[in-house]
Amino acid sequence: MTTWLITGGAGYIGAHVVRAMRDAGEQAVVYDDLSTGVAERVPDGVPLVVGSTLDAELLTRTLKEHAVTGVVHLAAKKQVGESVDLPLHYYRENVEGLRVLLEAAVGAAVPSFVFSSSAAVYGMPDVNLVTEETPCVPMSPYGETKLVGEWLVRATGRATGLSTASLRYFNVAGAATPELADTGVFNLVPMVFEKLTEGASPRVFGDDYATPDGTCVRDYIHVVDLAEAHVAAARRLSAAPGTDLTLNIGRGEGVSVREMIDRINAITGYDLPPTVTARRPGDPARVVASADRIAAELGWKAKHDVEDMITSAWAGWVRLHPEAAR
Ligand code: WQD
Repeated sequence: MTTWLITGGAGYIGAHVVRAMRDAGEQAVVYDDLSTGVAERVPDGVPLVVGSTLDAELLTRTLKEHAVTGVVHLAAKKQVGESVDLPLHYYRENVEGLRVLLEAAVGAAVPSFVFSSSAAVYGMPDVNLVTEETPCVPMSPYGETKLVGEWLVRATGRATGLSTASLRYFNVAGAATPELADTGVFNLVPMVFEKLTEGASPRVFGDDYATPDGTCVRDYIHVVDLAEAHVAAARRLSAAPGTDLTLNIGRGEGVSVREMIDRINAITGYDLPPTVTARRPGDPARVVASADRIAAELGWKAKHDVEDMITSAWAGWVRLHPEAAR
């Protein structure tokens, strides 16, 4: 029997990981400080421990009390812009929090550790498809904390035998159910929803990039697919001690900001053409994953398309903003 401690399990992505683990017959325990997480997202029957990843004593007690055999670490600060203003806070939460958690995990002889990383480690990659070998040159303190985190996880694995995987998420969207939808308005999809709801034009942050339609291209991944990749990685780690994986989690398909806004309008029943504003500083023109390594290593492949992401995200948005429905 494996029991996974899912830090950040009351958050948007974490709650999907908890659900996928349970659906796969794994035991889950959630550890979350509820700073942005929501207790109601934790399903009945899954223990919720409210605490910080900086609390070594509570972590150690939790790992022992629940006989945890693996950690999936998602608890972190994740706003790129905020990290520029608060680097010390981001390094404390994302790097020191990880260090304390790793120390507790090694101390409790937990054999497996899955780390939530990000495509932000690549910065401004100058390639058509980003592979795991593409140089990592993060452009923000947030991205730096994820890259340093990967180093710390790998070094700990090498030194102690901990089996590790770092999963580099591309642009996550969608929801398994309306209740599990992202409640933050920090990314393209919810930011467009917000504008439509206000009856305002969605914004395109720059249309003079060297891309086919001039707007930035990203690789959007459904949170349900992402969660299933965690289950696949977690199972690999338990089955093969000494594993050390670094994997992109994307679909390998680039979609432009303009295409996304057009599809959001069509799916939601709105017809508000976008307004082009200035570039947002630090935005790379194109970031699209090669998903070959995860397919080869874990046999994982995304099943959901952009339409599924927008439709399911919209159902969650309308649940919280009923006035938005058309
Ligand atoms: C996508 C594109 C915007 C809103 C960030 C982090 C990344 C990861 C995911 C955390 C960009 C454009 C957006 C709008 C727009 N985070 N845009 N109008 O920046 O690709 O990735 O979130 O783990 O590390 O960097 O995502 O959703 O903010 O933007 O034109 O109203 O949409 O400029 O090109 P991004 P995003």
